[in-house]
Amino acid sequence: MFAMLHSRFRSALLLSFAVACLADDTYRWPSPQYDQLEALLYEGRRGDGSSLASLVHPCRFRPDTNASIAAEWVRFAFHDMSTYDASNGTGGLDGSIAYELGRPENFGAGFTSTLSDFEVYPNKYVSRADIIALGAVFGTATCGGPIIPYRGGRVDAWTAGPGGVPEPHQDLQTHKDMFTRAGFSTAEMIQLTACGHTLGGLRSTDFPNLVPPAPNTAVPNFANFDTTTKFDNVVVTQYLDGTTQNPLVVSSNQTMRSDLRIFSADSNDTMHSLATADAFASTCQDILTRMINTVPHGVALTNDITLLPAKVHDVQLTFERGVFVFKASLRLLQVLNTPVNKQRAVKIFWCDRYGANQDCKGNNRSSTFASKLEEDPNLSPVTQRQGYSFVNYNFVVPVDASKSISKFWFEVDENDGKGPTAYKNGGDGYPVAQDQVLFVPTLSKSVLHQNSTLHRRGGGKPITGLVKEYTIVAAVRDGSNPSRVYMDALDVAISGFPSPFNTAVDLKPNSDITPSQGYSFYSGTVMDTGFQLTVDIHSIAADGTTYTEDFRQTAFLDNTPYLAPTNVTSSGKSSSSSSWSWRLAGDTHLAQLAVSGSVVVGVMLSTLL
Ligand code: HEM
Ligand SMILES: *[C@@H]1O[C@H](CO)[C@@H](O)[C@H](O)[C@H]1NC(C)=O
Ligand SMILES: *[C@@H]1O[C@H](CO)[C@@H](O)[C@H](O)[C@H]1NC(C)=O
Ligand SMILES: *[C@@H]1O[C@H](CO)[C@@H](O)[C@H](O)[C@H]1NC(C)=O
Ligand SMILES: *[C@@H]1O[C@H](CO)[C@@H](O)[C@H](O)[C@H]1NC(C)=O
Ligand SMILES: *[C@@H]1O[C@H](CO)[C@@H](O)[C@H](O)[C@H]1NC(C)=O
Ligand SMILES: *[C@@H]1O[C@H](CO)[C@@H](O)[C@H](O)[C@H]1NC(C)=O
Ligand SMILES: *[C@@H]1O[C@H](CO)[C@@H](O)[C@H](O)[C@H]1NC(C)=O
Repeated sequence: MFAMLHSRFRSALLLSFAVACLADDTYRWPSPQYDQLEALLYEGRRGDGSSLASLVHPCRFRPDTNASIAAEWVRFAFHDMSTYDASNGTGGLDGSIAYELGRPENFGAGFTSTLSDFEVYPNKYVSRADIIALGAVFGTATCGGPIIPYRGGRVDAWTAGPGGVPEPHQDLQTHKDMFTRAGFSTAEMIQLTACGHTLGGLRSTDFPNLVPPAPNTAVPNFANFDTTTKFDNVVVTQYLDGTTQNPLVVSSNQTMRSDLRIFSADSNDTMHSLATADAFASTCQDILTRMINTVPHGVALTNDITLLPAKVHDVQLTFERGVFVFKASLRLLQVLNTPVNKQRAVKIFWCDRYGANQDCKGNNRSSTFASKLEEDPNLSPVTQRQGYSFVNYNFVVPVDASKSISKFWFEVDENDGKGPTAYKNGGDGYPVAQDQVLFVPTLSKSVLHQNSTLHRRGGGKPITGLVKEYTIVAAVRDGSNPSRVYMDALDVAISGFPSPFNTAVDLKPNSDITPSQGYSFYSGTVMDTGFQLTVDIHSIAADGTTYTEDFRQTAFLDNTPYLAPTNVTSSGKSSSSSSWSWRLAGDTHLAQLAVSGSVVVGVMLSTLL
């Protein structure tokens, strides 16, 4: 037993080293799709902190049914994928399973629970099919299986597709034909089935003739495929040594012995090849990678999403409590189970956008972080298995709006005598693309309406129930004289899986908010029934240029956790340091508005989910 565990652990380590290569030099910030996928994979969560990974990690069981969540997620991905038709490239992992749960081939509570686990996570840059694939990656990794390299870019189907998922009563030829149609040989069919059937099992609620129901309880009885709940090759070794209790091998009803028919389809050759822990882990890594990357013809997947060693995120130039601030966070890796260096100094540097010191001609400015957060090492099974956790340094610095900001970078000094390490986005720093139109979350707000009716633009069935009304505020820089300020409001995560809510709404000058520091305020309202509204805010300037704030999240708005800005040091080539901070007069109105807004509305997204 010890030897087996030891060898499994070692093989897992080797595998994770094989994929633990950190992001290559081609990554540049901002890469919104990569940034979103990377955060979900390595932090396990979306923008508001809701954690997908924590539902399954560490190798969890459902509190109500005691089902293995990892097993449900891996099976879900297989069922979505397995209707693929390799002859014309239709089907595959495309999220169509959301519309196919009524079918006998997709029967059972495991599917409905999984679908609702994933419901709130898709957005502009991450499809539901990407989430389903990620579910298989998490489910495998968290129970001790190999780390499956993860790519994004899958495209969702918004309707059901053709059927054709294998069912246990079907004969071997039918199963071979189905796997061949999906592009998998007989050996690959055996591999994929053995790799799936290392987790979970059959439940009495779905197969009462094979698994007797537990008396007097709603909790199903399980007949697991092997005697461990880990992702390991015990399903193979117990099959080969004749001790297996896998109902799909030993059922007294021969018709239902689909695993026996499949596993022995090539005289057990493939099963013998999976008899060592290392071979099982590396074969499963390959074949599960194939499974999650089986996508419809024409879908272009991203490269493998690798861990960014220093990640810049949540960057925002905005107003908070009347102060024009620049916010950014730097996420650094920490080797698991080691303390963060207490001597470490982390600083942000930036250049003015306008004036004598434009683009750091003379001076640059710098400041230290406003808060530091050592993250829980359980955030993502993938990061944990690669041996890391995260430390986040959050920066909030006051900016003189007349000088604004053009780019920024970071320096990390461990104060160990080796001097600071600079993080400059692979060269010239992290660009602030524009300052002409800015999202102002703390002046925006959302109100929840119960039982109101939302009439969708362009007709369709009106939606009754919970509707959230968002008032989105943007700051527009004086002088650009925009002909139009508007937002594209998008929500992909809507209960019942309708096609995304996607609407353009004009933002109009809002005279209730006093102009400040060269900016005037615009606002517009949108109603949404979904879980994850994001807005792209655009301003079309008089000269025709369109400025955009891309993919702004609405989870917090006037409940945004407040961090006071830190002091700024200005240092030039020749001039000496000086310390200052901006809190300009005439901003009390803004501050009051922000505070009273949060008192009146006070609805956190987390209370809605
Ligand atoms: C001919 C091929 C296959 C057949 C006939 C088959 C059939 C089944 C059946 C009958 C169950 C029990 C479901 C329940 O009681 O609700 C099951 C569970 C499962 N299957 Fe398969 N399966 C096949 C291939 C695969 C493949 C290729 C994978 C993934 C790579 C997979 C992953 C799983 C998992 C993880 C479970 C456990 C689910 C849980 O415990 O909730 N299966 N399968
Ligand atoms: C839940 O399932 C696990 C693994 O199959 C098992 O060890 C445990 O006893 C079960 N718990 C309950 C309450 O049935
Ligand atoms: C793909 O091919 C299968 C059979 O080979 C056929 O049933 C299906 O309709 C085809 N789909 C398309 C979109 O052509
Ligand atoms: C065996 O299973 C098949 C398929 O579910 C079913 O039709 C048949 O009645 C079962 N036979 C027995 C003896 O229970
Ligand atoms: C394959 O292995 C199973 C389980 O050990 C055994 O029952 C079966 O006879 C074997 N088949 C062949 C062709 O070796
Ligand atoms: C909303 O409607 C449901 C069902 O019609 C009702 O039970 C509930 O009390 C209503 N809630 C509010 C806040 O009106
Ligand atoms: C920031 O500057 C103010 C005023 O100069 C000073 O009182 C305060 O101690 C400084 N804070 C820090 C953290 O250096
Ligand atoms: C700006 O900041 C860097 C730190 O990255 C410093 O080494 C450099 O001398 C500064 N440059 C100017 C022009 O002040």
